[in-house]
Amino acid sequence: MELTPEIIQSKLFSMRTQAHKFHLDTRSYAEHQTLSELYSKLGDFADEISEKLMGYQGGKRIGVGKLDELKVYSQDAVNKMVKDGAEFSYSLYEWAGNKKYCDLENIAQSLSGLFAETAYQLTLS
Ligand SMILES: [Fe+2]
Repeated sequence: MELTPEIIQSKLFSMRTQAHKFHLDTRSYAEHQTLSELYSKLGDFADEISEKLMGYQGGKRIGVGKLDELKVYSQDAVNKMVKDGAEFSYSLYEWAGNKKYCDLENIAQSLSGLFAETAYQLTLS
């Protein structure tokens, strides 16, 4: 999927809220804790990425994107969200590199790390 600032921002908002919903719906305490950290950090990433993206665009505001529909909780759905998140991070990294938005490339790498850390933590019970 071709990224745009609108798609990037709404994807981050969607992932944050989906992680929050899974945090509330899981019955595993370890997963509850892992997803708590994930949604809280995704909120920070959504903010930082939006602000720096607008800065790189000379202050141009980001239009309104479309939020993804929330998924019903299952362990598979959680794992898929984390896998998709890592793939999105890499797409963002490449997109930012093409535009020479260097710090956005940087943050996209950290976002990838957040999903890697989450994938590891989800192996704990
Ligand atoms: Fe909570």
